Amino acid sequence: MTMFSSKSYDEDYFEAALAETDHACRFQEAKLNAETATLAQGSEAVCAFVNDDLSRPCLERLSEHGIHTVAMRCAGFNNVDLDAAADLGIRVVRVPAYSPHAVAEHTIGLLLALNRRLYRAYNRVREGNFSLHGLVGFDVHGLTVGIIGTGTIGAKVAALFKGFGCHLLCHDPQENEDVLALGGDYVELDPLFEKADIITLHCPLIEATHHLIDEAAIAKMKPGVTLLNTSRGGLVDTSAVIGGLKSGQIGNLGIDVYEEEDSLFFEDQSGAVMQDDVFARLLTFPNVMITGHQAFFTSTALRQIARTTLQNLIDLEQTGSCVNAVSKSP
Ligand code: NAI
Repeated sequence: MTMFSSKSYDEDYFEAALAETDHACRFQEAKLNAETATLAQGSEAVCAFVNDDLSRPCLERLSEHGIHTVAMRCAGFNNVDLDAAADLGIRVVRVPAYSPHAVAEHTIGLLLALNRRLYRAYNRVREGNFSLHGLVGFDVHGLTVGIIGTGTIGAKVAALFKGFGCHLLCHDPQENEDVLALGGDYVELDPLFEKADIITLHCPLIEATHHLIDEAAIAKMKPGVTLLNTSRGGLVDTSAVIGGLKSGQIGNLGIDVYEEEDSLFFEDQSGAVMQDDVFARLLTFPNVMITGHQAFFTSTALRQIARTTLQNLIDLEQTGSCVNAVSKSP
């Protein structure tokens, strides 16, 4: 297998998991795309991550080099052209649930950091400034939380918010028994937008959910709403969100993902001039907290990602099928 977009932490956890198998892995720092696909030559499978580009041209190159399996080491697969993969006979597997707790807990982390101004408080105290001006937050207890997407992660988020004593309004074409048991009420999007004090996104990025949060949606929300997105950047129209922040319609924004993150995230760009003006504008707001797609990033999750990815390949090899196969566009 050739792993693309590989970082030292990937190598550490995969090396440990590989030691329990007779498989080998070639680690490549390069992102996977049509140009770099040739680096996979000699492997039977590639292992890719969230910002690799597995569109048709890339899959065609991989197929020419004899690659018959794409093993995504993440849950999302919106960056894979599944129709092209099917046409080329390339099997796609993923890691659907490595640690839903990791992402759910990070979502709450973003909320609390924003609400209680923890980043400002931390910096102030370090400078000997113990003033409380500008640090006022709000109780999460008793608020209404709108959860869009109540699958594996959304359900964990629902449980955490239930623990805070929140009322849960949910939107998902498929109701989740666990969320219903927590007292979650399933509603259409409009009432969720209108009633929720906090809105958190946990649905996949598909055609139907692209820019789910646009200008019209923001206009329906409660003034001062807190918006959280740890799912995929494309769910949100960032320009519309900037408008909402400027007008005060959005009171707080916590994001771990960004529409154009593939040219920014996962690299140290601290010495470079920021070229993305939209992202640069987001950074200017005192009520915006951005993390660089790290919600999944716990040791528990990394261990599970490595193990499941290798098990997926072993299952395909031994049985020709895999429970974590992704076979068609959702
Ligand atoms: P999942 O597949 O278990 O749940 C997704 C849910 O969204 C399903 O219940 C589905 O019915 C629902 N859904 C589909 N279309 C919808 C729509 N139009 N409106 C509302 N709900 C809709 O996925 P999981 O594991 O809970 O992950 C959710 C998302 O979180 C993933 O798609 C991925 O993009 C993102 N993610 C982000 C990570 C990070 O590090 N920031 C890490 C892992 C996942």
